[in-house]
Amino acid sequence: MLAERNIDVPASEIRKIFNMIIGRTDVFDMTVGIPDFDTPEHIKEAAKKAIDDGFTRYTHNAGYIEVREALAQKLKRDNNIEADPVSEMVLTAGGMGALVLANLVMINPGDEVIYPDPGFVSHYAHIKLAGGIPIPIQLKKENRFGLLSEDVEHKITPKTKMIVLNSPNNPTGGVTPNSELKRIAELCIENDIYVIADEAYEKFRYVDEEPLFIGSLPEMKERTVSIFSLSKTYAMTGWRIAVATGSSEIIGAMTKLQEHVIAMPTSIAQKAAAAAAVGPQDCVADMLKTFRKRRDLITKGLNDIEGVEIAPPGGAFYAFPDVSAYGVKSYDLVHKILNETNVVTIHGTAFGKYGEGFLRLCYAVSTERINEALSRLDSYLPKLLH
Ligand SMILES: Cc1ncc(COP(=O)(O)O)c(C=O)c1O
Repeated sequence: MLAERNIDVPASEIRKIFNMIIGRTDVFDMTVGIPDFDTPEHIKEAAKKAIDDGFTRYTHNAGYIEVREALAQKLKRDNNIEADPVSEMVLTAGGMGALVLANLVMINPGDEVIYPDPGFVSHYAHIKLAGGIPIPIQLKKENRFGLLSEDVEHKITPKTKMIVLNSPNNPTGGVTPNSELKRIAELCIENDIYVIADEAYEKFRYVDEEPLFIGSLPEMKERTVSIFSLSKTYAMTGWRIAVATGSSEIIGAMTKLQEHVIAMPTSIAQKAAAAAAVGPQDCVADMLKTFRKRRDLITKGLNDIEGVEIAPPGGAFYAFPDVSAYGVKSYDLVHKILNETNVVTIHGTAFGKYGEGFLRLCYAVSTERINEALSRLDSYLPKLLH
């Protein structure tokens, strides 16, 4: 009864884990990528004011122009991207909204799209939804899960239409070095390849190198859709708001399509986004500081467990330890850990086939929960070796 495109789009493997723990209050949940911070006060105030001031109606399909203008300031300040608010920006319902639109307006059936594996589960789903052929590119532990241009080059064929980039990466925390990013940009120009740059974790980086955004490089703006979600940056996951920027041709097509799908993201979330973009940024710096501490804590704690190996993740708020020493498939290991310790983790294979041998633990949770999870893992995992 259902259309074929449903069959092609898999359900998220993460759901399987969520479903197992529904209603359980005795578990230590390390699964979901939701910052445990509340949305900063000045952003909430802007939303309340928007309601009181009557910003409650349909807006332009690309979002209020004054909100796009505010976000254009952010793009210039933080990302070195010059975007025309009138024609080169569209506000979307989270990064997810932009990812779907970008895939649908760019991909023809049969086009090959290179994407990182392990990677964000929806990247694969969106390529399939658009009729594209997903071509996984392995992010390797020995490269700290950063993408190498050499690996990209090997995957390019005459059918390659696009590449999806995500650095810092979910689920590995890997950061692609700037030199590699520049070479990837050259490859894209040489081979006429388009880019989706999913910058969801742009602010959560622990590496020394200054961030470089591929959409800011010469000749890349016209072939890159850069997506900046406010979900993680400003602890706004439930508000569903992001901005996408790129050439007027692509952004125009995304805006036209959005009209027929959700019309536009919520007017109130748009107004909140403007406050986030031009308001004080110390909330972001505070979150980064906290995440860095937790990253150090979880990295050390995991390495102290016999059989677990992890290098400090360069960004995002996920630890992706190598647990292959236990000789158990990561999906089975998640079950064993849950049954024996009540700690909930996600199997690496939920993020693609190259995730085998790894687990994902989200450390956007309290220090207490991290400590408890570490101690429970330490009391159980080494037993698997003996
Ligand atoms: C890499 C990546 N991209 C996009 C998203 C989508 O987030 P949102 O739609 O809330 O912006 C997520 C959420 O976890 C993510 O990890």
